[in-house]
Amino acid sequence: MSQPEETEVARFKRLAAERAVELIQPGMVVGLGSGSTAAFVVRRLAALRAGGRLMDVVGVPTSLETESLARSLGVPLSTLEEHPTVDLTIDGADEVDPRLCLIKGGGGALLREKVVAQASRREVIVVDESKLSPRLGTRWPVPVEVLPFGWSSQALFLEGLGARATMRVSRDGTPFRTDQGNFIFDCAFGPIDEPAELARKLEARAGLVEHGLFIGLATELIVSGPSGVEYRRRPD
Ligand code: A5P
Repeated sequence: MSQPEETEVARFKRLAAERAVELIQPGMVVGLGSGSTAAFVVRRLAALRAGGRLMDVVGVPTSLETESLARSLGVPLSTLEEHPTVDLTIDGADEVDPRLCLIKGGGGALLREKVVAQASRREVIVVDESKLSPRLGTRWPVPVEVLPFGWSSQALFLEGLGARATMRVSRDGTPFRTDQGNFIFDCAFGPIDEPAELARKLEARAGLVEHGLFIGLATELIVSGPSGVEYRRRPD
């Protein structure tokens, strides 16, 4: 059976992912992100290993889905319990601003992604150029992971902060559950003037488990588009 043709966006994602895999050195502990771009990282790593390279690299997955993909391709996995510090994480993002602040969590893995990012020496973000944005919130709502206990109070709280908060649902119409069994509210704030201030407000609320604003965590960005693949470091 012939393979379906790769879309242009998928090609950009793959090229960014493959450039990022070049940063992996032998012996590294590598955080494996979640989503379609990060999946290209796992596939590339598996392909290199099939050719006998990077055999002593271990991956720390950021979601059950990534764990399952990596296992199916024979990529050796570890945990933060075994390796509390990760050398390099490669992950995708939903929106990236010029300071490399991010919105993440479109795939629902924001909590584990943030735990792994905070445990990483380097957090390399791989995106196609459609993810670039002058201001977070312009293109994507902020996913907020909420404890099921008291969820309707959290919806009111989020709307009180100025969001249009929509509970994420699965294809069968039931509430989407994260890998931790929590709910997600996708919070449309519109362009956010002070993401760090909004992050602090969200972090101060009991029952909000985590939010998808990643401030000061990405160290590098690899962005791919019609004019090629570009590597950027976070500006000082
Ligand atoms: C997963 O929870 C997200 O943070 C992903 O990193 C993000 O949604 C990017 O996804 P794609 O690489 O599929 O665009």
